[in-house]
Amino acid sequence: METANLRNIAIIAHVDHGKTTLVDAMLKQSGTFRANQQVMERVMDSNDLERERGITILSKNTSVHWRGTKINIVDTPGHADFGGEVERVLKMVNGVLLIVDAFEGPMPQTRFVLRKALELKLTPIVVVNKIDRADARPEEVVDEVLDLFIELGADEDQLDFPVIYASARQGSTGTAPDRIEPTLEPLFNMIMAHIPAPQVDLEAPVQLLVTTLDYDDYVGKIVVGRIVRGAIHQGEQVTLIKRDETYEKAKIGKVYVFEGLQRVDVPVAAAGEIVALTGLTTANIGETVACALNPEALPTIEVDEPTLSMNFIVNDSPFAGLEGEFVTSRKLRERLFKEVETNVSLQVEETDSADSFKVSGRGELHLSILIENMRREGYELQVSKPEVIYRTINGEKCEPIEFLIADVPENSVGAVMELLGRRKAEMVNMITLSPTQVRLEFKVPARGLIGFRNEFLTETRGEGMMSHVFHGYEPYKGEISGRNRGALIAFENGEATTYGLYQAQERGRIFIEPGIKVYEGMIVGENSREQDIEVNVAKKKHVTNMRSSTADEALRLEKAVVFTLEQALEFIEEDELVEITPKSIRLRKKFLD
Ligand code: GTP
Repeated sequence: METANLRNIAIIAHVDHGKTTLVDAMLKQSGTFRANQQVMERVMDSNDLERERGITILSKNTSVHWRGTKINIVDTPGHADFGGEVERVLKMVNGVLLIVDAFEGPMPQTRFVLRKALELKLTPIVVVNKIDRADARPEEVVDEVLDLFIELGADEDQLDFPVIYASARQGSTGTAPDRIEPTLEPLFNMIMAHIPAPQVDLEAPVQLLVTTLDYDDYVGKIVVGRIVRGAIHQGEQVTLIKRDETYEKAKIGKVYVFEGLQRVDVPVAAAGEIVALTGLTTANIGETVACALNPEALPTIEVDEPTLSMNFIVNDSPFAGLEGEFVTSRKLRERLFKEVETNVSLQVEETDSADSFKVSGRGELHLSILIENMRREGYELQVSKPEVIYRTINGEKCEPIEFLIADVPENSVGAVMELLGRRKAEMVNMITLSPTQVRLEFKVPARGLIGFRNEFLTETRGEGMMSHVFHGYEPYKGEISGRNRGALIAFENGEATTYGLYQAQERGRIFIEPGIKVYEGMIVGENSREQDIEVNVAKKKHVTNMRSSTADEALRLEKAVVFTLEQALEFIEEDELVEITPKSIRLRKKFLD
C-alpha cells in the first residue's frame, strides 16, 4: 500500500551550501509556522565542532507539510561514519535532496554519503543553491554533478536527475536559472512528483529498525526509526529483537512524530512514518522493534567494533580547575556512561582507579569528537596515549586493520602514498576519477591512522576526502618509525594556533626538526639547533621568549606544551597525558614531582 500523503527525504549538503537556510525557508513557506511565529531555533544548525571540521556528526529530523502531504526531512551525517550511521539513516528515506552551491560545485566531503545514497537506489533531486550569487555558474555545476554521479556509479534513472535552481536565502526556486519564481513551489512540486511515497503494509505485524538513539534528561532514552510495516501505539507491549536474535519484552512509552522543529506525541503512528519512541531503555542500534505476539526481525546492519581505546582521567595536574570547572570522577563517569546510551560503537569500562575510565571507539576521530565536545561543554580531563585493541588469534599478535578510501587531487597522490607507506599502509587500488582526481584505497593498521587526518588535510590543502571502515584483524605489522614529530603552537588571544608540522616551510609555515617538542613560548628537543629555530621562528610575531631547552627543564618551569588534540594524540608518549581544559590542550608528564 502506498502512503500517498507522506514523503521521506534526506538532505545531503556540504557545510555552508545552504541546508539550514533552505529548510528554514521550507518551514516558513509551507506554513508549518503560524504567521506570527518566528523560527526560534534552527534545528539543522550544526554545532561549532561540526562547522569547524566540515562534517555533520549527528543526524537530525524535521518535517514540513505541503498541500496535505507530510515531508519528513532527515539530515545525513557527513563522511564521519562511525558504525554505519549513514547507511541506516538513508534506509529511512526514499529520496535525497543534494544541495550544491552554484559557485563552488560539488565538494569531496559529500561524496561518501552521495555514493551510499546512489547505491541504495534512492531517487535524487539536485538543488543548485545560491543562484543569486554574482559568480554563480549553474550550468557548469550541473555538469560537474553529472560527472560525479557517473563516477559514483549512478544508474540510468538516477543520471536523469531533476534539477531545481534555488536561492534559499530569498526563498525562490525554478526549473531553469532564468525561470526563478519568488516561491519554493517548484521545489515542493518536484519533491511530490519525483520522490516515491513509502510502500508499506499497514496491516502486518509491526516492525521498526532502531536507527538512531537520542537521550533527553526528562524522558530518558529515545529510539528513532521508520516504521517499516504495521502501526505503533503508545503504551503498547512489543518484542525487542536483539542483534543476536534473542527476544526481550518491552513496553513503548510515548510515540512521537516530527512536526516542524518539534517532536509531538501521538496515540498511534503508522508504517512509513519516522518516529521517536520512549520506554525502550535497553534498545540498541540495529535491533528490531517488533510485534509482541508475532515478532519478526528486520535485517540488521553491522556496527563496526571499537579498535582504539584510551583512558579518560580526572584532571590532577597543577592546572586543574584553573581554566575550567574542576570535574569529579562522579561527573566524569556520568558523562561517559550517558554518552554510551546514544553513541554506537563506543564502550566505557571502569578501571582499577575510580578516577580513570577506559573508553574504546572507532578510531581517533571518533574519540576526538567526544573529547572536543566535552571540552566545549566545560569539562576538564586528561587522556592517556591511544592504544589500538590487539587480539591474539591462533597464538599470533594481531592488530585491527582499516580499509581506507582517500580521494585526492592528482598532484598530491605521491605525497599521500608516501605518508601512508610510512604508516605501514598497503595500497590495494588506485582509480583515476577524473583528470584531476584520484581515488586511493589502502589497508592500513588502525594505529597508523592516529594523527593522519591532520597530515592528510595539510598535504591535500583541505581538498582530500578520506573515510575508513573496519577491515579485520591481521598479524602485527611492526613498528611505525620515522614519523615527523614536533609542532609549534602559540597562544593568540587565548586560542591555540598551530604553526605547522613537518616539511611545511615552503608554504610559509615554520619548519621544525623531527624530535622537537614545543612548549608555550619555547621549543625544546634533543636535536634542535637553537639558531635554526630562531631564524625560522622569528618570522612569526606571536612567539616570544624563544629558547632551546630540554623537556625536563620545561616541565620544571611548569611551562605548558600546547597542541591541537590530534597532534597531542599522535605525539603523546607512554609516560605522558594530554590535559584537556576548555581553554587549552597540553601534554604533561604523568607524575610531576
Ligand atoms: P551548516 O549549518 O554549517 O551545515 O551550513 P548550511 O549548509 O546549513 O548553510 P547555511 O544555511 O547556514 O548557509 C551558509 C551561508 O550561506 C549563510 O551565510 C547563508 O546566509 C548563505 N546562503 C544560504 N543560502 C543562500 C542563497 O541562496 N544565496 C546566498 N547568496 N547565500 C545563501
